[in-house]
Amino acid sequence: MMQFSFPPSPCQRLQSRYFPGLQIWVKRDDLLHTQVSGNKFRKLKYALQACSTNTTLVTMGGPWSNHLHATAHAAALGGWRSIGLVRGAAEVTTATLDDCVASGMQLRFLTRDAYRNLRTETEGWQHYVDSALIDSALWLPEGGSAPQALRGVSEVIQEVEAELHFIPDTIVVACGTGATLAGILAGLDGRSQALGIAVLKNATYLHAEIAALLQAAGYPSHQNYELLTDFHQGGYGKAPPELLTFCREFSAESGIPIEPVYTGKVFYALAQMAQAGAFRADQRILVIHTGGLQGARGFAT
Ligand SMILES: Cc1ncc(COP(=O)(O)O)c(C=O)c1O
Repeated sequence: MMQFSFPPSPCQRLQSRYFPGLQIWVKRDDLLHTQVSGNKFRKLKYALQACSTNTTLVTMGGPWSNHLHATAHAAALGGWRSIGLVRGAAEVTTATLDDCVASGMQLRFLTRDAYRNLRTETEGWQHYVDSALIDSALWLPEGGSAPQALRGVSEVIQEVEAELHFIPDTIVVACGTGATLAGILAGLDGRSQALGIAVLKNATYLHAEIAALLQAAGYPSHQNYELLTDFHQGGYGKAPPELLTFCREFSAESGIPIEPVYTGKVFYALAQMAQAGAFRADQRILVIHTGGLQGARGFAT
């Protein structure tokens, strides 16, 4: 069994003109590992610890997927075979997919419909994998958002407590599938309040996903969170010019790199909320930097 673990990432006090008079820390999970960074490392941790030498990791993702990228690198680190089921045609090449192939991941390209079916057909991935490999394969759903991912994510809260010697009042994170937020709720175990910034449009369905993930992973149905669904900037992967400008300026000013798909939307939302007076001066806020910087190569920021 591989011990898939890295030293804790730092909690950094944020200095930025966008947040005058506010107490904000950033948990720099983007620094956890050069390739397997952010929430990806935490989500994969226990799944990978259970792999044996002949495991084949099978997963899915879009052409710029952080999860696909992290899984390919993790598989290379652990010496496992990996197969990525990619949304789109084989002619689509991206820096992300190039990296996946360079790490040894085999890619299979799926139509949008076939890809969508993988989300609902629990064994659908088996159609794309050599039958001899199926018994020893480990299927990781989109975003690595399996119930066991919550345990790995929950550990971020213990780390924060050990580093800061307090649990912040508000913990902020980007939400795609909701698994990272659910893991944070598991780690908080009813303390403080989490704030999720949905990066997709019409994301109220995430409440049900979060509840289902908590239940499937054996945690209580924590409700100490708020999900903000109006900061998606037009939808998943959409990056209007003002968001790109914000990402560039915030990164340069704070020294904390962010990208437009996840962390950029989080800090942009917070900056707008701060301007509207949504936070108290004595409120201790922590933003989890969930990494994903490799995906920024898809944007000319
Ligand atoms: C960089 C980054 N941040 C946040 C998220 C959102 O995490 P989740 O899908 O667990 O909500 C993702 C995607 O999974 C991501 O790649």
